[in-house]
Amino acid sequence: MRESQPVYFDTENQFWHVFKYEDASSILNDPATFSSEVFQRLATEEEKKQATAEPSILNLDPPRHRQLRSLVTQAFTPRTVANLTPRISEIVNEYLDRVIDQGRMDIIADLAYPLPVIVIAELLGIPTQDRDLFKHWSDTIVSLRREEAIQAGREMNEYLKQVTEQRRKAPRDDLISKLLAAEVEGQKLSEGELLSFYGLLLVAGNETTTNLIGNAIICFDEHPEAIERLRAQPDLLSGAIEEVLRYRSPVQRLVRVTTTDTTLGGHKIKAGQLVSPWLGSANRDEAQFPNPDTFDISRAPNRHLAFGHGIHFCVGAPLSRLEARVALGSMLARFGEIKRDRAHPLERIPAASAFFGVQKLP
Ligand code: HEM
Repeated sequence: MRESQPVYFDTENQFWHVFKYEDASSILNDPATFSSEVFQRLATEEEKKQATAEPSILNLDPPRHRQLRSLVTQAFTPRTVANLTPRISEIVNEYLDRVIDQGRMDIIADLAYPLPVIVIAELLGIPTQDRDLFKHWSDTIVSLRREEAIQAGREMNEYLKQVTEQRRKAPRDDLISKLLAAEVEGQKLSEGELLSFYGLLLVAGNETTTNLIGNAIICFDEHPEAIERLRAQPDLLSGAIEEVLRYRSPVQRLVRVTTTDTTLGGHKIKAGQLVSPWLGSANRDEAQFPNPDTFDISRAPNRHLAFGHGIHFCVGAPLSRLEARVALGSMLARFGEIKRDRAHPLERIPAASAFFGVQKLP
């Protein structure tokens, strides 16, 4: 598509698809033309009435986006993330201890799935005994079982409302308390905004990091020479993770809506149309990356778009990079050999989603 139809209009679904790096990054750099307020601009009045949550920063444009994002980044600092390293190592080692004697594991179920949920739950300040409940909600919300997902969303909101009330009365050293205290221009987050941010952390932060870790193991298994190099030079791991993000991007596509008539790649796009920049394709664009289909752990430069670009650049990028580094580094250090069990064909998570990863990875 990059070669034959880099900007393609799907007439059946009335949707523009954009495949080249340059076009994708110019969309993400221009929120005034390509808005993130897709629901607010396209939903019917009835749909808006039925909406259960306020939009999170992911679905807001400036100026509100800028205000809310600055509150979020006050609470979610690089130091908060770096301080988590020892705890992430502890969780990873606990999970690896459980499987090391068996000589086999399912990378997803036994490590990549629980790790980010536990980290987010702890960061928010969810009591340990409620972690399984939280994991169940998180799992159900990202599933495609609509009714169950809505129900789980409601239950989780109710639960988080209670925790938020408790922290309002007695703050602790956790993200919920910090978000309650954060202020911009004398304004605090409303309850609805707090709840939608928690929801975003769950959905944006969990499945994506799970997929990053799983996708890394798939890449390493397909490129045994990469594993050998990483064992000999562990300092290559951070670059290898960037290459996994480029080569098997956990988020394949984003969605925007045009605010005005515009042109892209010689095509006229009318106001109010849906436009999807494909990050997974941009990240394989030969005009940006020499030999884009080669998995090269020392690729430099590697300006992939896996975490987005511009004002919505992923807030959780440092956290997911850290989790992936600790998880993969510990596996390489503790396991003499890492081989995918090829008796189990790779089964993608539901294709309808924009997420790219596998359900199981024995
Ligand atoms: C935004 C990818 C992990 C929180 C984004 C965006 C992408 C992305 C592509 C931009 C969306 C857009 O422009 O519409 C990823 C990937 C991850 C990951 C690939 C893991 C490998 C996380 C984690 C967290 C997180 C761990 C939090 C704990 C967010 C938030 C935003 C965001 C809050 C919205 C930022 C904004 O709208 O200003 N992420 N993400 N993400 N991500 Fe991540």
